[in-house]
Amino acid sequence: EKGGYDYFMLKEIAEQPKAVADTLLGRIDGSGSLSLDEVRIPVSVLREVDKVVIVACGTAYHAGMIAKLAIEHWTRIPCETELASEFRYRDPILDQRTLVVAISQSGETMDTLMALRHAREQGAKVLAICNTNGSTIPRESDAVLYTHAGPEVAVASTKAFLTQLVACYLVALYLGQVRGTKWGDEIEAVIRELSDIAGAVDTVLETMEPVRELARSLAHKDTVLFLGRHVGYPVALEGALKLKELAYMHAEGFAAGELKHGPIALIEQDLPVVVVVPSPRGRSVLHDKIVSNIQEIRARGARTIVIAEEGDHAVVPYADHLIRIPATPTLLQPLVATVPLQVFACELATARGNEVDQPRNLAKSVTVE
Ligand code: M6R
Repeated sequence: EKGGYDYFMLKEIAEQPKAVADTLLGRIDGSGSLSLDEVRIPVSVLREVDKVVIVACGTAYHAGMIAKLAIEHWTRIPCETELASEFRYRDPILDQRTLVVAISQSGETMDTLMALRHAREQGAKVLAICNTNGSTIPRESDAVLYTHAGPEVAVASTKAFLTQLVACYLVALYLGQVRGTKWGDEIEAVIRELSDIAGAVDTVLETMEPVRELARSLAHKDTVLFLGRHVGYPVALEGALKLKELAYMHAEGFAAGELKHGPIALIEQDLPVVVVVPSPRGRSVLHDKIVSNIQEIRARGARTIVIAEEGDHAVVPYADHLIRIPATPTLLQPLVATVPLQVFACELATARGNEVDQPRNLAKSVTVE
Protein backbone atom coordinates (compact mmCIF):
# COMPACT_ATOMS: atom_id res chain seq x y z
CA GLU A 1 0.00 0.00 0.00
CA LYS A 2 1.04 3.56 -0.69
CA GLY A 3 0.62 4.65 2.94
CA GLY A 4 -1.02 7.98 2.12
CA TYR A 5 1.43 8.92 -0.66
CA ASP A 6 0.30 9.49 -4.24
CA TYR A 7 2.97 7.17 -5.59
CA PHE A 8 5.06 4.29 -4.36
CA MET A 9 8.11 6.23 -5.43
CA LEU A 10 7.29 9.05 -2.99
CA LYS A 11 6.74 6.54 -0.22
CA GLU A 12 10.00 4.78 -1.02
CA ILE A 13 11.95 8.07 -1.09
CA ALA A 14 10.50 8.90 2.33
CA GLU A 15 11.42 5.48 3.69
CA GLN A 16 15.11 5.96 2.98
CA PRO A 17 16.30 6.95 6.47
CA LYS A 18 14.71 3.79 7.88
CA ALA A 19 15.99 1.62 5.02
CA VAL A 20 19.52 2.88 5.59
CA ALA A 21 19.27 2.29 9.35
CA ASP A 22 17.82 -1.20 8.80
CA THR A 23 20.69 -2.12 6.49
CA LEU A 24 23.19 -1.16 9.19
CA LEU A 25 21.26 -2.89 11.97
CA GLY A 26 23.18 -5.63 13.75
CA ARG A 27 26.21 -5.19 11.51
CA ILE A 28 28.16 -2.78 13.72
CA ASP A 29 29.01 -4.26 17.11
CA GLY A 30 29.23 -2.47 20.45
CA SER A 31 32.93 -1.75 20.02
CA GLY A 32 32.31 0.00 16.70
CA SER A 33 33.71 -2.69 14.42
CA LEU A 34 31.86 -4.61 11.75
CA SER A 35 30.48 -8.08 12.17
CA LEU A 36 29.35 -9.50 8.85
CA ASP A 37 29.03 -13.17 9.88
CA GLU A 38 26.48 -13.67 7.13
CA VAL A 39 29.23 -13.14 4.56
CA ARG A 40 30.13 -16.80 4.46
CA ILE A 41 33.40 -16.37 2.66
CA PRO A 42 36.16 -17.31 5.11
CA VAL A 43 38.32 -14.45 6.32
CA SER A 44 41.35 -16.45 5.14
CA VAL A 45 39.98 -16.27 1.58
CA LEU A 46 39.15 -12.56 1.86
CA ARG A 47 42.71 -11.88 3.01
CA GLU A 48 44.05 -13.46 -0.19
CA VAL A 49 41.79 -11.53 -2.58
CA ASP A 50 43.95 -9.59 -5.03
CA LYS A 51 41.24 -8.08 -7.22
CA VAL A 52 37.61 -7.08 -6.81
CA VAL A 53 35.25 -6.92 -9.79
CA ILE A 54 31.80 -5.42 -9.37
CA VAL A 55 29.05 -6.26 -11.86
CA ALA A 56 25.60 -4.68 -12.00
CA CYS A 57 23.13 -2.85 -14.25
CA GLY A 58 21.43 0.55 -14.17
CA THR A 59 21.18 2.15 -10.77
CA ALA A 60 22.96 -0.78 -9.12
CA TYR A 61 25.88 -0.12 -11.48
CA HIS A 62 26.06 3.45 -10.18
CA ALA A 63 26.28 2.06 -6.63
CA GLY A 64 29.09 -0.16 -7.90
CA MET A 65 30.99 2.82 -9.32
CA ILE A 66 30.95 4.43 -5.88
CA ALA A 67 31.89 1.11 -4.25
CA LYS A 68 35.02 0.95 -6.42
CA LEU A 69 36.25 4.23 -4.97
CA ALA A 70 35.51 3.09 -1.42
CA ILE A 71 37.09 -0.35 -1.85
CA GLU A 72 40.26 0.93 -3.44
CA HIS A 73 40.63 3.69 -0.84
CA TRP A 74 40.02 1.62 2.27
CA THR A 75 41.55 -1.69 1.20
CA ARG A 76 44.13 -0.82 -1.50
CA ILE A 77 42.86 -3.83 -3.49
CA PRO A 78 42.47 -3.01 -7.20
CA CYS A 79 38.78 -2.89 -8.04
CA GLU A 80 36.90 -2.45 -11.29
CA THR A 81 33.21 -1.94 -11.84
CA GLU A 82 31.65 -3.11 -15.04
CA LEU A 83 28.21 -3.23 -16.60
CA ALA A 84 27.11 -6.85 -16.30
CA SER A 85 25.96 -6.81 -19.92
CA GLU A 86 29.45 -5.86 -21.11
CA PHE A 87 31.37 -8.11 -18.72
CA ARG A 88 29.83 -11.34 -19.87
CA TYR A 89 30.54 -10.82 -23.52
CA ARG A 90 34.24 -10.20 -23.26
CA ASP A 91 36.94 -12.38 -21.82
CA PRO A 92 37.50 -10.99 -18.30
CA ILE A 93 40.53 -12.08 -16.30
CA LEU A 94 39.31 -13.89 -13.20
CA ASP A 95 40.69 -16.56 -10.89
CA GLN A 96 40.39 -17.94 -7.35
CA ARG A 97 41.78 -14.74 -5.88
CA THR A 98 39.18 -12.54 -7.54
CA LEU A 99 36.18 -11.44 -5.51
CA VAL A 100 33.20 -10.63 -7.72
CA VAL A 101 30.47 -8.50 -6.17
CA ALA A 102 27.11 -8.71 -7.95
CA ILE A 103 24.72 -5.91 -6.98
CA SER A 104 21.01 -6.31 -7.72
CA GLN A 105 17.84 -5.09 -6.05
CA SER A 106 15.62 -7.78 -7.56
CA GLY A 107 18.16 -10.59 -7.63
CA GLU A 108 16.69 -11.59 -10.99
CA THR A 109 18.45 -9.36 -13.53
CA MET A 110 19.52 -11.69 -16.34
CA ASP A 111 22.73 -9.92 -17.30
CA THR A 112 23.96 -9.79 -13.69
CA LEU A 113 23.06 -13.44 -13.18
CA MET A 114 24.91 -14.51 -16.32
CA ALA A 115 27.94 -12.42 -15.29
CA LEU A 116 28.14 -14.13 -11.91
CA ARG A 117 27.73 -17.57 -13.46
CA HIS A 118 30.62 -16.80 -15.76
CA ALA A 119 32.72 -15.58 -12.81
CA ARG A 120 32.08 -18.72 -10.78
CA GLU A 121 32.98 -20.93 -13.73
CA GLN A 122 36.38 -19.22 -13.72
CA GLY A 123 36.84 -20.01 -10.02
CA ALA A 124 36.11 -16.54 -8.62
CA LYS A 125 34.18 -16.13 -5.39
CA VAL A 126 30.92 -14.24 -5.75
CA LEU A 127 29.34 -12.05 -3.11
CA ALA A 128 25.83 -10.80 -3.90
CA ILE A 129 24.42 -7.53 -2.57
CA CYS A 130 20.71 -8.02 -2.96
CA ASN A 131 17.37 -6.76 -1.65
CA THR A 132 15.18 -9.78 -2.39
CA ASN A 133 15.44 -12.77 -0.08
CA GLY A 134 15.82 -16.09 -1.79
CA SER A 135 16.02 -14.67 -5.32
CA THR A 136 18.20 -16.28 -7.98
CA ILE A 137 21.34 -14.12 -7.72
CA PRO A 138 21.93 -14.71 -3.98
CA ARG A 139 21.03 -18.39 -4.40
CA GLU A 140 23.74 -18.81 -7.00
CA SER A 141 26.39 -16.78 -5.13
CA ASP A 142 28.95 -17.96 -2.57
CA ALA A 143 27.66 -15.42 -0.07
CA VAL A 144 25.11 -12.64 0.20
CA LEU A 145 24.82 -9.39 2.06
CA TYR A 146 21.16 -8.45 2.03
CA THR A 147 20.06 -4.85 1.85
CA HIS A 148 17.07 -4.29 4.11
CA ALA A 149 15.24 -1.69 2.07
CA GLY A 150 11.96 -3.62 2.18
CA PRO A 151 9.98 -4.21 -1.03
CA GLU A 152 10.63 -1.60 -3.71
CA VAL A 153 7.59 -1.30 -5.97
CA ALA A 154 8.24 1.79 -8.12
CA VAL A 155 10.23 0.95 -11.24
CA ALA A 156 12.67 3.78 -10.49
CA SER A 157 15.07 2.59 -7.84
CA THR A 158 15.47 4.88 -4.81
CA LYS A 159 15.71 3.27 -1.39
CA ALA A 160 17.34 0.17 -2.90
CA PHE A 161 20.13 2.41 -4.23
CA LEU A 162 20.84 4.02 -0.87
CA THR A 163 20.91 0.65 0.86
CA GLN A 164 23.15 -0.78 -1.89
CA LEU A 165 25.56 2.04 -1.12
CA VAL A 166 25.46 1.22 2.58
CA ALA A 167 26.10 -2.46 1.84
CA CYS A 168 29.00 -1.51 -0.46
CA TYR A 169 30.55 0.67 2.24
CA LEU A 170 30.16 -2.20 4.71
CA VAL A 171 31.93 -4.58 2.31
CA ALA A 172 34.73 -2.06 1.71
CA LEU A 173 35.18 -1.32 5.40
CA TYR A 174 34.96 -4.99 6.31
CA LEU A 175 37.63 -5.92 3.77
CA GLY A 176 39.77 -3.10 5.16
CA GLN A 177 39.13 -4.36 8.68
CA VAL A 178 39.97 -8.04 8.05
CA ARG A 179 43.05 -7.22 6.00
CA GLY A 180 44.23 -4.34 8.19
CA THR A 181 45.22 -1.23 6.27
CA LYS A 182 46.86 2.03 7.14
CA TRP A 183 43.36 3.54 7.21
CA GLY A 184 42.42 1.77 10.45
CA ASP A 185 41.57 5.00 12.30
CA GLU A 186 39.69 6.41 9.35
CA ILE A 187 37.71 3.17 9.03
CA GLU A 188 36.62 3.44 12.66
CA ALA A 189 35.64 7.07 12.20
CA VAL A 190 33.64 6.29 9.06
CA ILE A 191 31.81 3.45 10.79
CA ARG A 192 30.78 5.97 13.45
CA GLU A 193 29.64 8.45 10.78
CA LEU A 194 27.67 5.73 9.00
CA SER A 195 25.72 5.11 12.20
CA ASP A 196 24.46 8.72 12.03
CA ILE A 197 23.82 8.86 8.31
CA ALA A 198 20.09 8.03 8.50
CA GLY A 199 19.61 11.32 10.36
CA ALA A 200 21.42 13.19 7.59
CA VAL A 201 19.16 11.62 4.93
CA ASP A 202 16.17 12.69 7.02
CA THR A 203 17.48 16.27 7.14
CA VAL A 204 17.68 16.33 3.33
CA LEU A 205 14.12 15.05 3.00
CA GLU A 206 12.84 17.82 5.24
CA THR A 207 14.24 20.53 2.98
CA MET A 208 12.95 19.36 -0.40
CA GLU A 209 10.14 21.86 -1.10
CA PRO A 210 12.38 24.29 -3.05
CA VAL A 211 13.62 21.33 -5.14
CA ARG A 212 10.04 20.41 -6.03
CA GLU A 213 9.28 24.03 -6.92
CA LEU A 214 12.37 24.18 -9.11
CA ALA A 215 11.40 20.93 -10.85
CA ARG A 216 7.94 22.29 -11.67
CA SER A 217 9.49 25.44 -13.13
CA LEU A 218 11.62 23.32 -15.49
CA ALA A 219 8.84 21.05 -16.73
CA HIS A 220 8.94 22.60 -20.22
CA LYS A 221 12.67 22.05 -20.73
CA ASP A 222 14.06 19.47 -23.17
CA THR A 223 17.47 18.81 -21.65
CA VAL A 224 19.12 18.77 -18.24
CA LEU A 225 22.82 18.08 -17.76
CA PHE A 226 24.46 16.72 -14.61
CA LEU A 227 28.09 17.18 -13.60
CA GLY A 228 30.10 15.56 -10.84
CA ARG A 229 33.55 14.31 -9.95
CA HIS A 230 34.88 11.41 -7.90
CA VAL A 231 31.83 10.03 -6.01
CA GLY A 232 29.81 12.90 -7.47
CA TYR A 233 30.19 11.51 -10.99
CA PRO A 234 28.10 8.35 -10.41
CA VAL A 235 25.63 10.58 -8.53
CA ALA A 236 25.39 12.75 -11.67
CA LEU A 237 24.80 9.63 -13.79
CA GLU A 238 22.12 8.48 -11.37
CA GLY A 239 20.39 11.88 -11.47
CA ALA A 240 20.38 11.73 -15.27
CA LEU A 241 19.08 8.14 -15.34
CA LYS A 242 16.20 9.05 -13.00
CA LEU A 243 15.25 11.97 -15.21
CA LYS A 244 15.32 9.86 -18.38
CA GLU A 245 13.20 7.07 -17.01
CA LEU A 246 10.67 9.24 -15.17
CA ALA A 247 10.45 12.55 -17.03
CA TYR A 248 11.40 11.17 -20.49
CA MET A 249 13.76 14.11 -20.84
CA HIS A 250 17.14 14.19 -22.47
CA ALA A 251 19.48 14.01 -19.50
CA GLU A 252 23.18 13.29 -19.42
CA GLY A 253 25.72 12.97 -16.66
CA PHE A 254 29.33 13.97 -17.21
CA ALA A 255 32.53 13.81 -15.23
CA ALA A 256 33.15 17.52 -14.68
CA GLY A 257 36.80 17.17 -15.69
CA GLU A 258 35.63 16.16 -19.16
CA LEU A 259 33.78 19.42 -19.79
CA LYS A 260 36.51 20.95 -21.92
CA HIS A 261 36.90 17.71 -23.87
CA GLY A 262 33.51 18.16 -25.52
CA PRO A 263 30.41 18.57 -23.35
CA ILE A 264 30.94 22.30 -22.74
CA ALA A 265 29.88 22.84 -26.37
CA LEU A 266 26.36 21.85 -25.30
CA ILE A 267 26.05 24.79 -22.90
CA GLU A 268 23.65 27.43 -24.13
CA GLN A 269 21.52 30.19 -22.64
CA ASP A 270 19.29 28.95 -19.81
CA LEU A 271 20.25 25.27 -20.06
CA PRO A 272 19.73 23.70 -16.63
CA VAL A 273 22.93 22.08 -15.34
CA VAL A 274 22.96 20.27 -12.02
CA VAL A 275 26.38 20.21 -10.36
CA VAL A 276 27.25 17.91 -7.46
CA VAL A 277 29.96 19.66 -5.46
CA PRO A 278 32.43 17.65 -3.36
CA SER A 279 33.09 18.68 0.20
CA PRO A 280 35.46 21.66 0.55
CA ARG A 281 37.06 19.74 3.41
CA GLY A 282 38.40 16.33 2.31
CA ARG A 283 39.49 16.61 -1.30
CA SER A 284 39.59 20.39 -1.48
CA VAL A 285 41.41 20.41 -4.84
CA LEU A 286 38.43 18.74 -6.47
CA HIS A 287 36.10 21.18 -4.77
CA ASP A 288 37.96 24.16 -6.17
CA LYS A 289 38.05 22.67 -9.64
CA ILE A 290 34.31 22.13 -9.63
CA VAL A 291 33.71 25.70 -8.47
CA SER A 292 35.64 26.94 -11.49
CA ASN A 293 33.62 24.58 -13.73
CA ILE A 294 30.45 26.18 -12.34
CA GLN A 295 31.85 29.63 -13.12
CA GLU A 296 32.75 28.54 -16.67
CA ILE A 297 29.36 27.11 -17.55
CA ARG A 298 27.53 30.00 -15.96
CA ALA A 299 29.58 32.48 -17.98
CA ARG A 300 28.27 30.63 -21.06
CA GLY A 301 24.66 31.02 -19.98
CA ALA A 302 23.93 27.81 -18.07
CA ARG A 303 21.35 27.95 -15.31
CA THR A 304 23.31 26.37 -12.47
CA ILE A 305 21.62 24.11 -9.95
CA VAL A 306 24.25 23.46 -7.31
CA ILE A 307 24.17 20.70 -4.72
CA ALA A 308 26.68 21.62 -2.05
CA GLU A 309 27.50 20.89 1.53
CA GLU A 310 26.14 23.12 4.29
CA GLY A 311 28.66 25.88 4.99
CA ASP A 312 30.29 25.76 1.53
CA HIS A 313 30.26 29.51 0.81
CA ALA A 314 32.48 29.42 -2.28
CA VAL A 315 29.62 28.21 -4.51
CA VAL A 316 27.12 30.89 -3.49
CA PRO A 317 28.00 33.58 -6.09
CA TYR A 318 27.68 31.10 -8.99
CA ALA A 319 24.58 29.14 -7.99
CA ASP A 320 21.30 30.15 -9.61
CA HIS A 321 19.71 27.53 -7.38
CA LEU A 322 21.44 26.16 -4.31
CA ILE A 323 20.50 22.84 -2.74
CA ARG A 324 22.13 22.27 0.63
CA ILE A 325 23.11 18.83 1.95
CA PRO A 326 24.61 17.95 5.34
CA ALA A 327 28.37 17.56 5.65
CA THR A 328 29.52 13.94 5.46
CA PRO A 329 32.86 12.19 4.92
CA THR A 330 33.77 12.48 1.22
CA LEU A 331 33.00 8.89 0.26
CA LEU A 332 29.61 8.89 2.00
CA GLN A 333 28.31 12.01 0.25
CA PRO A 334 26.25 10.08 -2.36
CA LEU A 335 23.89 8.97 0.43
CA VAL A 336 22.74 12.56 0.86
CA ALA A 337 23.50 14.03 -2.59
CA THR A 338 21.31 11.54 -4.51
CA VAL A 339 18.12 12.26 -2.58
CA PRO A 340 17.41 15.74 -4.08
CA LEU A 341 17.91 14.24 -7.55
CA GLN A 342 15.29 11.57 -6.86
CA VAL A 343 12.83 14.19 -5.66
CA PHE A 344 13.65 16.41 -8.65
CA ALA A 345 12.98 13.63 -11.18
CA CYS A 346 9.80 12.49 -9.46
CA GLU A 347 8.37 16.01 -9.37
CA LEU A 348 9.31 16.70 -12.98
CA ALA A 349 7.61 13.48 -14.06
CA THR A 350 4.47 14.49 -12.18
CA ALA A 351 4.54 18.00 -13.65
CA ARG A 352 4.83 16.50 -17.14
CA GLY A 353 1.85 14.24 -16.48
CA ASN A 354 3.86 11.01 -16.60
CA GLU A 355 3.08 7.80 -14.80
CA VAL A 356 5.60 7.91 -11.93
CA ASP A 357 5.58 4.36 -10.64
CA GLN A 358 5.35 2.64 -13.98
CA PRO A 359 7.25 4.61 -16.64
CA ARG A 360 6.63 3.69 -20.27
CA ASN A 361 8.66 0.85 -21.81
CA LEU A 362 10.26 -0.22 -18.51
CA ALA A 363 9.93 -3.26 -16.24
CA LYS A 364 10.94 -3.43 -12.58
CA SER A 365 13.25 -6.30 -13.17
CA VAL A 366 14.86 -7.09 -16.48
CA THR A 367 14.85 -10.87 -16.71
CA VAL A 368 15.63 -10.98 -20.40
CA GLU A 369 18.65 -9.64 -22.27
O1 M6R B 1 17.11 -5.43 -9.84
P1 M6R B 1 18.40 -4.81 -10.28
O2 M6R B 1 19.03 -3.98 -9.21
O3 M6R B 1 19.39 -5.84 -10.80
O4 M6R B 1 18.04 -3.85 -11.48
C1 M6R B 1 19.02 -3.17 -12.20
C2 M6R B 1 18.41 -2.11 -13.08
O5 M6R B 1 17.52 -2.68 -14.00
C3 M6R B 1 17.68 -1.02 -12.27
O6 M6R B 1 18.50 -0.43 -11.33
C4 M6R B 1 17.12 0.07 -13.21
O7 M6R B 1 18.18 0.77 -13.79
C5 M6R B 1 16.18 1.01 -12.43
N1 M6R B 1 14.91 1.12 -13.09
C6 M6R B 1 16.74 2.39 -12.25
O8 M6R B 1 15.89 3.23 -11.54
